[in-house]
Amino acid sequence: MNKTFPWYKNAVFYELNVRAFYDSNGDGIGDIRGVIQKLDYLEKLGIDCIWLLPIYPSPLKDDGYDIADYYGIHPDYGTLEDFKALVDEAHRRNLRVITDLVLNHTSDQHPWFQSARTDPNSPYRNYYVWSDTDQKYKEARIIFLDTETSNWTWDPAAGQYYWHRFYSSQPDLNYDSPELKAEIFKIIRYWLDLGVDGFRADAVPYLFEREGTNCENLPETHTFLKELRTYLDQNYPDRVLLCEANQWPEDVRPYFGDGDEFHMGFHFPVMPRIYMALRSGNIAPVKEILDRTPEIPPDCQWCTFLRNHDELTLEMVTEEERQWMWQEYAPDPRMRLNLGIRRRLAPLLDKDPRKIMLANSLLFTLPGSPIVYYGDEISMGDNIWLPDRNGVRTPMQWSNSKNAGFSEANPEKLYAPVIDNPKFPLSEINVEAQINQAGSIWHQIRSMIRIRKNNPGLGLGDLNWLPLPDSGIAAYTRRFKTETWYIINNLTAEKKTFNIPADWAIPQNAVEQLTGTALDTLLTGKFNEITLYTYQFLWIKVG
Ligand code: NOJ
Ligand code: CA
Repeated sequence: MNKTFPWYKNAVFYELNVRAFYDSNGDGIGDIRGVIQKLDYLEKLGIDCIWLLPIYPSPLKDDGYDIADYYGIHPDYGTLEDFKALVDEAHRRNLRVITDLVLNHTSDQHPWFQSARTDPNSPYRNYYVWSDTDQKYKEARIIFLDTETSNWTWDPAAGQYYWHRFYSSQPDLNYDSPELKAEIFKIIRYWLDLGVDGFRADAVPYLFEREGTNCENLPETHTFLKELRTYLDQNYPDRVLLCEANQWPEDVRPYFGDGDEFHMGFHFPVMPRIYMALRSGNIAPVKEILDRTPEIPPDCQWCTFLRNHDELTLEMVTEEERQWMWQEYAPDPRMRLNLGIRRRLAPLLDKDPRKIMLANSLLFTLPGSPIVYYGDEISMGDNIWLPDRNGVRTPMQWSNSKNAGFSEANPEKLYAPVIDNPKFPLSEINVEAQINQAGSIWHQIRSMIRIRKNNPGLGLGDLNWLPLPDSGIAAYTRRFKTETWYIINNLTAEKKTFNIPADWAIPQNAVEQLTGTALDTLLTGKFNEITLYTYQFLWIKVG
């Protein structure tokens, strides 16, 4: 490990759903042993850290974000021994593993909640947020707008309303309870002792509720999270806390504290703006949001992504931009969910390899540690006929054989159908085919990962925009110590030619790193002129 900067600052993450990855025992459901069998694949792809979606016992009303036992493994996925083996096997390959830590709520099936609702004197009653009326905290917005009408639900057994920010089957925990807080420390200790390298902390803005506020990002929340961080620093250095706060950059900034709260935070607002830039052929929205993104402490890092397991969220855009995004990227109402779009990367970008790689070029060269969502490295399709967000959580496609090589079960038994249709034929969209085909999306993404890892400048360097008269070209430098990158992206379908500005310091023997081509062979005609073809991008390294 490089001692000069923390590992996560230059890491590439890979997000996967155990259910969807590989079924080792033929019951139609992916499992932990299956993930172990595919670690060689992940090593070959070159990623550094796996982020596992929730693996705990759960009624799966929110795909595991509704936890019924914080100390176990869902029986569909295996056992604690399997989990331990996964962590050990990953570590043996220098891969790290982080898990989802759902702090804000449990399942209504959790024994704490069952005890709390049926017995007013239960020691767990105060683990949840109860009220005699549903009129409290009126300023808190509803997040799952398509299903929930209130953040309060009446519980007949309890004779009170309980508070929930997500599905009504996910009662919020009460962080005003010292006993509950102590439980949370117990939970993180348990998983850290099992060897996990950190947590992706779910839904952290909502931990506390206070009258007269929107119940998001409250000071009490930061105080609690700082306690968690102190505990980690004192007992488990080198582990990471990644903050899921779908908020504006200035509201996420406090989650880094003075380097004493989260190590990492998702940069939500940059994501939809990459899609805006691609569709409008104009980098302005991305530049604007990055320009207004505050500095973060030196040991902190943003996490960036193009897609994840949820809908492509449009919470962090204006109403006008949201309507435009829906119109451009989700013309069929079935593609929409809550304030977002429930589609995968490849279908969103018309399955055009040039656009898919251009989006990845931005992801891998703008500030932040990138996350690849499983299946996007082979441009998997989606299934808008499945409910909720399930259409972007279908089985990983390993080969052009039965069940895409995901499972030996009868196809009817799979937890979700494999995607195979004329636009997204399985014969083409599977790992084996793409590994065998030079220049496939898989190979291109793998090259980007390799270049990222070998060059700390892309992870750690500062960002400087290079003004060009044409906003259809996104040009910037990333600089770290003696390493400088000139990144030039043509966001449009047109061929673009421009004169290299006098102040760009690119020697003619500089090399475009994705193709290994020397710059002077890229220069067309006149020596100081660069031509970019449709959606072409150049990663030129100097020094
Ligand atoms: C955010 C997760 O990404 C999402 O999948 C989940 O439904 C909510 N948090 C509630 O836990
Ligand atoms: Ca299985």
